[in-house]
Amino acid sequence: MCGIIGYIGEKQAAPILIDGLKKLEYRGYDSSGVGVISSGPNGGMRPVPSKVILRKSHGKIQNLEELIKSRPFPESCIGISHTRWATHGAPNRVNAHPHSDCEGKILIVHNGIIENYEPLRDALRKRGHRIVSDTDTEVVAHLIEENNRGDLVQAVQKAIKQLDGAFALAIISSDYPDTLIAARVGSPLIIGLGKNENFVASDVPAILEHTKKIIYLKDQQMAVLKKDSVRVFWFGGKAVKPKVDVVKFHMDAVQKQGYAHFMLKEIHEQPDVLAQMIKSRLKGNQVILDGFGLTEAQLKGIKNIALIACGTAYHAGLVGRYVIEKLTGIPVMVDAASEFRYRDPIVDKSTLIVAISQSGETADTLAAVREAKSKGGKVIAICNVVGSSLTREADGVLYTHAGPEIGVASTKAYVAQIAMLYLMALKLSAHRKKIAARARLRIIRDFKRVPALYKDILKHKNAIAVIARKNSHFGCFLFLGRNVNYPSALEGALKLKEISYIPAEGYPAGEMKHGPIALIDEYRAVVCIAPQSEVYEKMISNMQEIRARKGKIIAIATEGDQAIKAHANHVVYIPKTNSLLTPLLVALPLQLIAYYIAVQLGCDVDQPRNLAKSVTVE
Ligand code: G6P
Repeated sequence: MCGIIGYIGEKQAAPILIDGLKKLEYRGYDSSGVGVISSGPNGGMRPVPSKVILRKSHGKIQNLEELIKSRPFPESCIGISHTRWATHGAPNRVNAHPHSDCEGKILIVHNGIIENYEPLRDALRKRGHRIVSDTDTEVVAHLIEENNRGDLVQAVQKAIKQLDGAFALAIISSDYPDTLIAARVGSPLIIGLGKNENFVASDVPAILEHTKKIIYLKDQQMAVLKKDSVRVFWFGGKAVKPKVDVVKFHMDAVQKQGYAHFMLKEIHEQPDVLAQMIKSRLKGNQVILDGFGLTEAQLKGIKNIALIACGTAYHAGLVGRYVIEKLTGIPVMVDAASEFRYRDPIVDKSTLIVAISQSGETADTLAAVREAKSKGGKVIAICNVVGSSLTREADGVLYTHAGPEIGVASTKAYVAQIAMLYLMALKLSAHRKKIAARARLRIIRDFKRVPALYKDILKHKNAIAVIARKNSHFGCFLFLGRNVNYPSALEGALKLKEISYIPAEGYPAGEMKHGPIALIDEYRAVVCIAPQSEVYEKMISNMQEIRARKGKIIAIATEGDQAIKAHANHVVYIPKTNSLLTPLLVALPLQLIAYYIAVQLGCDVDQPRNLAKSVTVE
């Protein structure tokens, strides 16, 4: 939610910043801006004082790029930039970052929310400051201005002491053209180390082209970047010797590589993500959960499990509940993280908390983790982003290592999350007597086959595209599933509404009669998830009820099930597997259906309106 990149070095800052912003566009894309400091001799004739130069635009980064083409920046080797997902103030040019102080000397970009900005703003106005935007951010520039007594670092330290809330900030000033300052509380911020150049950014992809050496700034830390040095210290001033990580992923991971959209590329990466996870986590029939951080005795002592997450990761948690309970007999609760802490959950030392998050930066998930920890629960993170806030706060981390997910609609991260939950359930099941050893081994065997089955489904993607296109005119979709595939129905509906804006509802099929059936007529499409399982016959009954009311059905069924054709308008087949594993397989056709419908409708698949990849505000 909002992306930041800043540069200081010897190259021209603006092209690096624009390019970096494009890599961060998944974090927000309603407006953007670049600010640089120009300095140096004016044609060698006379020295010209440094000054800040700003270009801002509403809408996508492309608009900003065009603006800069028509009004190019002068030479400049230092600058900051921002792509916005609006919280305070409409998404327009004035509210776009960077923001500046009254004199237009200080520039700041911000990700997060300054919760006490209203009293700060009113007080600043009373003291004569001209505040021009509706943002919470602008007050920070004015506070720095007010505290500036000839030392920018001290001014920033004094200003941020007055802030409540979450922030990742990058700051420059024309009075200090050799300095870029970064500070964070709550929102992610990284420093990239280059040769005679340094970077600050919200996320690694923005700077991956320039460096792989990264410092993950911690909460309450600031950094002062010069072109040839980086100094990190706590807000109080105490110096820090930061750990420098070398990130492993390659530029290919953040490029489309010939696919029309990141979402489609990431869908295709799923077999490899799963295969890699199986290779590293299953040695023979033994589940290896390095990072779990629990001893065998602690594993045995777990009395209940709480899964907490948001969005798609929450749906992964719902799948996890079925799987863990069925395989281990351990009671599992699943909460949307935004609800967890308000319902006074029953958590104690024997509760294992599993926080699931692609980004590891979702504000509600982090807040729920803190709540659970305060009650004595042990927290394990299932997370994709190495070094993210969640991984630092959790007692143990199970990395999904799905690679960067750029498409806003989560696909490979979801599949990796549920795969990790299966592995966790299999690991815990070894200590319990809920299922027979032979049955457990059969599940492990079938689990290992899933990547190959994914490839089989992908071979039929054109047929799925045809079905999707034929049904793209429906103004409303219902997704129905039972048992382990009830969460699949929720996720299928979420994918469709996120990227195509078609109203779509996921429902447990058994509940259809208690409301959604009122929606059914010839103008509604219903996706019925009906692979072979103990609830198959019940799904067929539901399909008959829909057909009797003229609803149009797309069924997802098991290969070889010819009988289902009599009850559906279209059938998408998945290969035969253990019924417990079907959520892993049905995820793929559900993603493809949503994708091809959105493409058919001309929607912006990778950057759907109003959404952001990582929601770092509560
Ligand atoms: C946003 C994204 C979703 C994601 C959710 C949770 O809403 O658009 O795709 O599932 O946040 O994000 P997390 O990073 O915690 O998995």
